Amino acid sequence: MKRKNIKIETKLIREGLNRTNFSETSEPIFMTSSYVYDSPEQAEARFKGDDDGFIYSRYGNPTVKVFEDRLASIEGGEKCFATSTGMAAVFSSMMCFLEQGDKIVASRALFGSCYQILTKIFPKYGINTTFVSGKNIEEWEQAIDDDTKAVFFETPSNPTLEIIDIAAVSQIAKKVGAKVVIDNVFATPILQKPLQLGVDIVVYSGTKHIDGQGRALGGAIISDNEYYEKHLKPYMRHTGASLSPFNAWIMLKGLETLKLRVEHQSDSALKLAEYYLKHKKIKQVIYPSKNTHDQYGLIKSQMSKGGTLLTMILDGGKKEVFKMLNNLEIIDISNNLGDTKSLITHPATTTHYSLGQEGRKEAGISDGMIRLSVGLENHEDLIDDLDKSLDKI
Ligand SMILES: Cc1ncc(COP(=O)(O)O)c(C=O)c1O
Repeated sequence: MKRKNIKIETKLIREGLNRTNFSETSEPIFMTSSYVYDSPEQAEARFKGDDDGFIYSRYGNPTVKVFEDRLASIEGGEKCFATSTGMAAVFSSMMCFLEQGDKIVASRALFGSCYQILTKIFPKYGINTTFVSGKNIEEWEQAIDDDTKAVFFETPSNPTLEIIDIAAVSQIAKKVGAKVVIDNVFATPILQKPLQLGVDIVVYSGTKHIDGQGRALGGAIISDNEYYEKHLKPYMRHTGASLSPFNAWIMLKGLETLKLRVEHQSDSALKLAEYYLKHKKIKQVIYPSKNTHDQYGLIKSQMSKGGTLLTMILDGGKKEVFKMLNNLEIIDISNNLGDTKSLITHPATTTHYSLGQEGRKEAGISDGMIRLSVGLENHEDLIDDLDKSLDKI
């Protein structure tokens, strides 16, 4: 927006808005694969880069552009490229600039598919990763060296909600010129601003809180101009993981209510965390707040609220967890998160199954662990649902 000092609530609704001659209220959906030119001269000018218009929807689309401009502005970045999924964002954000022989340093506590990319796919192209315990700054210091070209982590992590010191890790990476890539899915653009803490590239799964209503897959990569022009734009244009205009429209509608949803869901998650601290069948509650996390000082310095995810460890293992999940009446069993509907999953047999027993042990994921994504329902109804199911164990 042209006006300065526009607040985030206003940006979420209005940034990037570009009305057509029909003066529509809601952003139009441009379901078009390609564009026509007034003349061959104009077509030539577009391909040469002398004319700004659209060329092909794999490169760019007016509805997708509103979403990209709005998200870049909210995040405080210069540019955004919207992707077909969150995993396309994670993969492309690094693949677009890394070369054979480059090294990545990453935290061990990662979403399963991110771990697969780093351990199974990148090594095929000569890009190898050194894993560290994200909480331990000394391990980052030791692992990041002159060969390191990218540093990758998520905070809070999935599902152990481990917190990584974004500013400290970014500072270490800067010394060797490595790019810092963060998966900010759990914190959302509302609760944590990684670019202000020294991160270079922020990636999102829009499938999570940004849509937040279980409708569409999508993702985004936010960065400065230089990385976007030099690495990201050419890579995305030619490899094709672009976001569909229809899904971009859904994500735009999601952004309009993002702050309200994330803040309300985070407040409910905190209430549940406090409640389950005292429950006899819950061994441990992990939630980024004062009474439920040992990194509270760091949390306060980089997050404005604890987020919508809550992890609990039951007194028992897989059998007890399955019994509890089978008795829920409101909360759905699902591996998605960030939705208006509360969703619960058993990471050991779903999202983190592919890590194997040993990998899960290293990542701190036990068989008694459940991850709850707190939705917009009344928190007392959620507690009632959980309590009744816990009683059945
Ligand atoms: C932390 C995190 N990063 C990335 C992804 C991938 O997103 P998507 O499913 O949109 O590809 C997910 C979830 O699936 C996630 O939880």
